[in-house]
Amino acid sequence: MAASSGPEKIHIGLLGYGTVGSNVHSLLEQQADEIEKATGAAISIKKILVREPSVPRAGASPDKFTDNFEDILGDPGISIVVELIGGTEPAFDYVTAALENGKAVVTANKQLLSQQGFYLFQLARQKKSQIRFEASVAGAIPVIKVLRESMVAADLKSVYGIVNGTTNYILTEMNRTGARYADALARAQEWGYAEADPTADISGKDAAAKMAILASIAFHTGVGLDDVTCTGIEDVSSLDIAYARELGFTVKLLGVAKLYQDKINVRVYPALLKMDHPLASVSGAYNAVFLKGTAIDEIMLSGPGAGGRETASAVVSDIISVVARRGAPGFLEYPVAYSDRDFYPDDDVVSSFYLRLEVEDEPGVLGAIARVFGEHEVSIQSVLQKGRGARAELVMVFHPVREASFAAAIEQIGGLKVVRSAPRPIRVEGKDDE
Ligand SMILES: NC(=O)c1ccc[n+]([C@@H]2O[C@H](COP(=O)([O-])OP(=O)(O)OC[C@H]3O[C@@H](n4cnc5c(N)ncnc54)[C@H](OP(=O)(O)O)[C@@H]3O)[C@@H](O)[C@H]2O)c1
Repeated sequence: MAASSGPEKIHIGLLGYGTVGSNVHSLLEQQADEIEKATGAAISIKKILVREPSVPRAGASPDKFTDNFEDILGDPGISIVVELIGGTEPAFDYVTAALENGKAVVTANKQLLSQQGFYLFQLARQKKSQIRFEASVAGAIPVIKVLRESMVAADLKSVYGIVNGTTNYILTEMNRTGARYADALARAQEWGYAEADPTADISGKDAAAKMAILASIAFHTGVGLDDVTCTGIEDVSSLDIAYARELGFTVKLLGVAKLYQDKINVRVYPALLKMDHPLASVSGAYNAVFLKGTAIDEIMLSGPGAGGRETASAVVSDIISVVARRGAPGFLEYPVAYSDRDFYPDDDVVSSFYLRLEVEDEPGVLGAIARVFGEHEVSIQSVLQKGRGARAELVMVFHPVREASFAAAIEQIGGLKVVRSAPRPIRVEGKDDE
């Protein structure tokens, strides 16, 4: 291109103009000079796909909006498609069509990637295009880039952390104020930290999708949403949080992806963490991810896990990476499942547990319960007796045990006459005896 014609012009087709889409648009406009100086290219949004283009929207001129994806796909001037509509359909069709047509794709869509990631990565590779997805996990934190580019030789053994801001906000509020779960959830909704339908967040499904993506990249193996076992925070009570604090712990929803005997195990569950664990102080809607490997020891990345502007910053950084590697995509542009590792069964994982049991207030109760645990070779580390009469409870912490043994003991204990409600154990991470 002749020098007099100015910087190269790169045109984007944006799909969706919601919280993140509108922020990507404004960030690209506000930072245009800086981005042009850094990349040597003038990057702008040419077309925006929305459902109702006639609705007036702040920030972008009305003639950019269309409700026809073909206006973006069929425009040879548009080289990057930024997908920010969310969900799997029609996002999958749009992303597939864009890659098929040789356009690069940037997406923040964890549902799509946790279900179709490796198909899309392969397609991008086949078409010598690019797909980038930094914003799909942990908002503004550049964990995908670090995993893809900086950890290739790190021999990673585990990736774990707090990857859902909504549940972290709720648990932080319960811990800070003693609020009940339902009240903390209502407060999170009032302040915009939880959606009107919070199911995906509180059930752990949102974190599971993110952990599937992180595990896939960390262990070079296709890990899908269905490969992740998840437990949400619905059953964590304010009593559990209060007792945990008494014992020196706080409760967090963790995503944990680990290698056991070179096999992958990925799960999401609430866990008691020692107060002095670095993740214990990650509060509110913040996220934090630990990477552990033989070559790096331990790295922690933390920051805002969501938010329109924060997420938009990760999307724009992906756009800049696409522009930087245009014409010369290499192995960093395509996550590859070259390891193809097997999965390690949940039953064989060895974990520590905390358990609050509502029991009858009568002699011999503790003995009966201890006997069942003994039969399953589950060793009790400590027991506290709380309350009297109809409020009698046992608060127990256990030494590390194979999860299948613990589950079998719990099932039997749930059937004892002296136990008044279904036992709901919570795992304990980072105890001294682990
Ligand atoms: N918000 C965050 O903090 C955050 C953080 C990390 C990742 N993400 C991810 O970023 C993506 C976008 O999230 P968001 O918060 O910006 O969602 P959002 O506010 O709901 O925006 C989505 C937009 O896409 C539009 N849309 C949906 N289906 C469409 C279709 N078939 N055709 C055209 N437009 C369509 C919606 O239009 P209508 O207005 O007509 O419904 C809406 O404007 C999601 O994948 C999300 O998981 C978000």
